Amino acid sequence: MNIKEEIKKDIYNILKDQVQLEDIIIEKPKDKKMGDYAIPCFQFSKILKKNPIDIANTIKENIPTSKYQKIEVVGGYLNIFLEKKVIVSSTLNRIMTELDHYGSNDIGKGKNIVVEYSSPNIAKPFGIGHLRSTVIGEALKNIYLKNGYQVYSLNFLGDYGTQFGKVMYAYITWGDEQKVKENPTQELKNLYVKFHEEAKKDPALEEEGRKWFRRLEEKDEEAIGLWSWFKEESLKDFKKTYHILGTTEFNDYNGESYYKDKAYDVINLLEKKDLLEESQGAKVVNIGEDIIPALIQKSDGTSIYITRDLAAYIDRLEKYKFDEILYVVGNEQALHFEQIKRVLNKLGYQSDKLKYINFGLLLQNGKKMSTRGGTSLNLQELLDSAMNLARKYIEEKNPTLENKDEVSKMIGVGAVIFNDLKNYRTNDIEFNLEETLSFTGNTGPYVQYTNTRINSLLEHYTSSNIDYDRIELNEYIWNVIIDLYEFPEIIQKSRAEYDPSELAKYLLNLSSDYNKLYASVKMLNEEENKTNFYLVLSKCSGIVLTEGMRLLGIKMPNKM
Ligand code: ARG
Repeated sequence: MNIKEEIKKDIYNILKDQVQLEDIIIEKPKDKKMGDYAIPCFQFSKILKKNPIDIANTIKENIPTSKYQKIEVVGGYLNIFLEKKVIVSSTLNRIMTELDHYGSNDIGKGKNIVVEYSSPNIAKPFGIGHLRSTVIGEALKNIYLKNGYQVYSLNFLGDYGTQFGKVMYAYITWGDEQKVKENPTQELKNLYVKFHEEAKKDPALEEEGRKWFRRLEEKDEEAIGLWSWFKEESLKDFKKTYHILGTTEFNDYNGESYYKDKAYDVINLLEKKDLLEESQGAKVVNIGEDIIPALIQKSDGTSIYITRDLAAYIDRLEKYKFDEILYVVGNEQALHFEQIKRVLNKLGYQSDKLKYINFGLLLQNGKKMSTRGGTSLNLQELLDSAMNLARKYIEEKNPTLENKDEVSKMIGVGAVIFNDLKNYRTNDIEFNLEETLSFTGNTGPYVQYTNTRINSLLEHYTSSNIDYDRIELNEYIWNVIIDLYEFPEIIQKSRAEYDPSELAKYLLNLSSDYNKLYASVKMLNEEENKTNFYLVLSKCSGIVLTEGMRLLGIKMPNKM
């Protein structure tokens, strides 16, 4: 039973022939005294050529009233008050039976989805942008799974390109094996930076870098050996990060290098279809007046980023037969993905299967995040500072807590992830450590804290036997119930809109409604039937909060 859908159907049956079922908009009034749902009838005025009040009255007269407690016409709105008792018992019973499966559905049955996310570049520390890609991608993966899809998660490592020629030269010239082993990505990046400093003084180094890249292209043993080692060491670093973040396994890590030979198949295919044009020695595909041509092959004959991306798309389509492929990549690559889509179109692929899931920057005081020294901040430092602050709060609030390390990690890492996901992805986010970690704001720790509150209440949980006829509902109770009731809808919506923030905001809302109820009554001091009811309601809230956070990739401590 989904009440919103039912209301829509009831209205549709009245206005049939004139409106489409999908077009009917149902709102939730800000002031809950105005009703549980409201239908703005302005939406029908144009089509029906009647004023909204008349339309609202027509609906009110014809709607099967027995299903609803009360229906009112106010202004151009039809306000609906639900038959609450039925919803209360059915929602709680459903959650108590389905437990963490509550909210699951099989909309995606038989559909294959590929989510490509994280995709860091080897020989460089995992950046803040990769953090965003990782947490958004991970959440979307979980949300798709919850909606019954078959999901494949891919990590398109940035492991190929001319820059690695420079890193190789730098390592051979100034590198230290032990240092690289101890701190691979940072050390390799230092070498790369050194290369640029030295090349400023001695431009001849650029040619040395190119030579090494050519050796790699020509599969020279020493070059391949070095490059594979850089990759292996970098992956070790990345996997440490995934471990801290709690990122689930990827189905494959086939990065750019995997597609470097297949990229030549793409060039041949474009050639055969007569789509390649010569431009200053390079080869491009013209993809429209409004956009710059896609550069496919450089004048020295080598492939580039986009060529490897095209090869990856075609290969993945064959391998995974996907219905949709999501690319979780920052806003700055918008042109790149538009070019890919257009080239794919020219090649006869259905490029609307490709969804560019773009996102904004994480900023500190309006600027890109940096360390005190002014260099760009890496992820490990960010996570460390969050875990340390979480630890400090625990020492203050709950000094006798067991496994403080583990809990600080759950809180610190969870806070960073939640702070990211509560914002609509395409927006830039301002990062403030204290705010992110606050136990009382719109934060991950606030949701976690609410759940620990529930856990300690549940130590008194004995029975789920409730006589619902004897339960008197009030606003606080009802607000929690309607939140719980709407969880399955949120699961669908956040998938349909590729928007984990929908779910994160929902969890904040549920936490806040639950806490208001918690403050309004002493749950354990009521008569038995009532206490049982409150405890079941609490248990159900805990189940939904925990499952919702799991979907966002965040763990819940039992105590904090
Ligand atoms: N490695 C790239 C970067 O760090 C991101 C890769 C995005 N995915 C893709 N298929 N192009 O910028």
